[in-house]
Amino acid sequence: MAENLNPKQDIPCLFVIFGGTGDLTKRKLIPALYSLFKGGELSPDFAMVSIGKETMSEMDYRNEMKKNLSLFTGYDLNEEVWDSFCRKLFYKTIDFSAGDGLYENLKAFLIDLDGNLNIGGNRIYYLAVAPEFFGPIINHLQLHGMIENKSSWQRVMVEKPFGTSLKMAKELNKEILKVLPEEKLFRIDHYLGKEMIQNIIAIRFCNSIFESMWNHHYIDNIQITSSETIGIENRGAYYENSGILKDMLQNHMLQMLSLVCMEAPVDLEPESIRDEKVKVLKSLRLFSEETAKTNIVIGQYGRGLVDDHEAAGYREEEMVSAESTTPTYIALKAYVDNFRWGGVPFYIRTGKRLDKRVSEIVIQFKKLPGTDFYKEFANTVPDVLVIKIQPSEGIYFHINIKKPGSDFIIEKIGMDYCQECKYGHNSPEAYERLILEAIRNNPAFFTRWDELECSWSYIESIENALAKTELSYPNYPAGSSGPKEAGVLIERDGRSWWG
Ligand code: BG6
Repeated sequence: MAENLNPKQDIPCLFVIFGGTGDLTKRKLIPALYSLFKGGELSPDFAMVSIGKETMSEMDYRNEMKKNLSLFTGYDLNEEVWDSFCRKLFYKTIDFSAGDGLYENLKAFLIDLDGNLNIGGNRIYYLAVAPEFFGPIINHLQLHGMIENKSSWQRVMVEKPFGTSLKMAKELNKEILKVLPEEKLFRIDHYLGKEMIQNIIAIRFCNSIFESMWNHHYIDNIQITSSETIGIENRGAYYENSGILKDMLQNHMLQMLSLVCMEAPVDLEPESIRDEKVKVLKSLRLFSEETAKTNIVIGQYGRGLVDDHEAAGYREEEMVSAESTTPTYIALKAYVDNFRWGGVPFYIRTGKRLDKRVSEIVIQFKKLPGTDFYKEFANTVPDVLVIKIQPSEGIYFHINIKKPGSDFIIEKIGMDYCQECKYGHNSPEAYERLILEAIRNNPAFFTRWDELECSWSYIESIENALAKTELSYPNYPAGSSGPKEAGVLIERDGRSWWG
């Protein structure tokens, strides 16, 4: 793993955002960059250029970003810090999907800026655009000599989704790798930037109690949940093509699964970690039409109450068809067919417009035999470890003890580690972490192509297996815990969802 973050990074860089007026830039990228700047994490020789199609003056762009910062984040805006930050933020109107002349123009602009600010040629191009633009933009950058300056470095960060199917992802990858080597490509999965997800490696491999029991001999089942209260938030056009499978399962959920299941890497170097994750993804049992029937539940939300407010049904959202069959919820039982995990079910669920916002990984250990024949142990519950990813970060572990007193009564007690209570602040936003990792050239928390390929194959198997399923949508109201069949899926095995 790369060395610990220095409090102050001293790596000059020009950070160029394609999609400068898009949602992601407003909600995540500019706030993350502001926060890094405020925390002194960026080099004094760091500047940002946002590229967008809209004609706008630099001043207007900066004001717009300032307004969004207060709107979309809980940050207290410090006027003085913002003023210094925004002097490093530039805006350039370019229709990046258009022709060559525009890239010549952009190239000249970036060279000038780089020279004036003494940056020395280091660049990150962040593509916060739809995947169909990745190939053309990278090709243009290469064609105009913007990604191969020998005396400095240039990297490209791309947002998810990387492709829209296995076939498209393969084509896209081929197109990109013709002009850009894998080591310069940083494919984002922002869950990998979350503190508690990075913590999985430490929890598993630094603690003998967990390391020795992390297998099918001791673990009964593992549950991975990411539930959201928000809906699709003005992203109807994107979501209609993506749905919950491609928006959450293909990337965030499978990344969590692979970190939970992987073998100990030979060292903590990025490639060693990724090698182990790939093996897990390759071992995922694919679905057939038959197995999908009892092991997968999909759903779509209808109208309902969320936080006491009437929320529209998915089919009523903007840019969504009134007969849409796009799923907004999935629960499934997965198996990782290898020696460590043979027979252990992984219950995975994620959905939009649910009753609570929570992401967590629950490891439920097996019950001991004594619980069946010591009558005093009748109330024993299986030990459970919960890795709490959000909204609060930490670990919860519960075990059984004897309740104080003359009677031998077993009671469950919980040990709760609250990260915020101990360290007094929330971890940096995932995007902050990932931007720094890309500047430091640490690809550990980005997705390598073979990981993506395996996860797309898995999604394809689900889509094929579900192709003939009769859907009756909507099948859960907004603000509920999801379709009732998701409960049946786990209860049929004599288990229940945690929480
Ligand atoms: C994004 C999805 O990747 O992750 C969104 O496109 C989803 O639909 C978001 O809301 C969830 O991220 P987080 O960090 O809020 O759990």
